[in-house]
This record gives sequence, structure tokens and C-alpha cells, in this order.
Amino acid sequence: MSYEINDTEFKRLSGLLYDIAGISLSDAKKVLMTGRLSKRLSALGLDTYTQYFKYVTDPAHADELRFMVDLLTTNETYFFREPQHFEFLKQIVPKSIASGDVYRVWSAAASIGAEAYTIAMVLADKLGVEGAWEILGTDISHSVLEHARRGHYRMAEAEKIHVPYLKKFCLKGRDDQAGTFLIDKKLRQHVGFEQLNLNVEGMKKMGDFDVIFLRNVLIYFDIPTKQRVVANLIRSLKSGGYLIVGHSESLNGITNVLTLVKPTIYRKP
Ligand SMILES: C[S@@+](CC[C@H](N)C(=O)[O-])C[C@H]1O[C@@H](n2cnc3c(N)ncnc32)[C@H](O)[C@@H]1O
Repeated sequence: MSYEINDTEFKRLSGLLYDIAGISLSDAKKVLMTGRLSKRLSALGLDTYTQYFKYVTDPAHADELRFMVDLLTTNETYFFREPQHFEFLKQIVPKSIASGDVYRVWSAAASIGAEAYTIAMVLADKLGVEGAWEILGTDISHSVLEHARRGHYRMAEAEKIHVPYLKKFCLKGRDDQAGTFLIDKKLRQHVGFEQLNLNVEGMKKMGDFDVIFLRNVLIYFDIPTKQRVVANLIRSLKSGGYLIVGHSESLNGITNVLTLVKPTIYRKP
């Protein structure tokens, strides 16, 4: 069943999404909103978006906010997306890690984990599967993180993974798992996933990272949100560490703390 949304309803719901996640939906996204939320209205037995807004903002239904954010985020991702960034990573990973040190990379809008596991393949290749490296993947959406933790994907999604990596780090599904692959446990044990909203003023420091990937999420934010999110991440970036954004994104006018190394790649002095 499809439900009509009027301007007031769209403004209220998109305002709620903006307040929580920092995501700005233009009026052109009405169809996207109704396409994604109509199944919730129907599951809850509601007839209008006005009723849904009342429901989702009722503290008694706090869980519904989580469903709403999960449905309204765009989670498109794939392995080795924007491959130049992984070539860059290969160049900057040190040949060896000092005893007691750990090389840390953060995939800060991780979606279903393809980016985090791509980084893992590069680090395992450079530093060894038993090496001292760790990856943190975070996302606001709970449902994508469940997928990321499983590390289990359709074979079609392996298309961009280089064959040697595929052979070394992925297990091909057999029988009822045919047509799928699983990221090898040896890699998965270096990668942790945590739910985290980047749009929180003074967000907690997540650690000290050598590299942070913040790719293909700034495009959903307005300037004040970008500034807040980037300031949050810079706190967890080591001095000399790199922040990498997506190819259609830039930190021009967003921060003056970082130095541009090359388009989309920034360094903390
Ligand atoms: C298009 S995906 C990008 C995935 C990956 N970084 C890549 O480039 O392939 C954007 C992700 O950002 C997440 N996201 C959106 N707003 C967020 C926020 N405020 N905090 C954390 N994650 C957020 C979404 O849930 C989504 O999974």
C-alpha cells in the first residue's frame, strides 16, 4: 500500500531525521521517504504520516526512531570503492610496526562493512594477517552493522576484489551458502563494529587513529553538520594521521586544522 505525504508531514519527518542524524533531505526526496517508510506505516497499522510522526516521537516508542533512521539512511557501498584511496593506504602503511604499537584505521560511516574489510585486506597484505593492526567500523544504522559483523556477502559483491585477495581472505560458500562468500575469520578478528552517531556535539573520542575514512556521508550533511562531524573525527586522529573523504566531497571551508595532501586526502599536522 502506498501512502500520500503532504508538505507539513514531510517537513516534520525530515526535520526529525536532520535533528538526529544531521541528514538534510530536500523536497525532491519525498518519494524516497514514502518509498522507505510506507512499510512501517503498514506494519504499525497507521493510515497517515501525521499518525506516524506522533508515534515515532512518543517516548513510549523510542525504538521506532531507530527503525526510521535505519530506513532513511542511504547505505550504498562496495568493496574497493574509489580504489585510489586503497592505493594511497598501501603507500603510507609503514613496513613494520614498532613493538607494542598498533596501526589503527577507522571506517567512520561503515555501512555493511565493505569499506572496513577492504582496508583489512590491504593491511593484512602489508602487515600480515597476524600483524599489529586494528580496524573500527561505525555507523548510525544498527541494521547495516549486523550485516557488517557477519562479514557475509553475495558473490556478486566480490566483483571488485582482486583475485589474490579473494583467494587469500574470503571463503567461498558451498551447498546452501553457494553464491556467497565470508570474510575469513583471521581478518574479521582485527575488525570491530560499533553503533555511533557522528552528529553529536562533542562526540566521545574513539581512540587515536592513523587513518580515518569518512567517505560518501558528508554529501548528506549541510555545512554546520559537516563542521561538527569533522571536528569530532579530528579529535581521534593522530598527529600526522590522514582523513580521507569521498571523491565528490571536500573539506574546503569545513576545517582549517587539516592540510590537503591531494584531492580528498587530508593530514593532521
Ligand atoms: C553511502 S554510505 C557510505 C559507506 C562507505 N563509507 C562508502 O563510501 O562506501 C553512508 C553511510 O553513512 C551512514 N550515516 C549517515 N548519517 C550518519 C551519522 N550521523 N552518523 C554515522 N553514520 C551515518 C549511513 O547509515 C550509511 O551507512
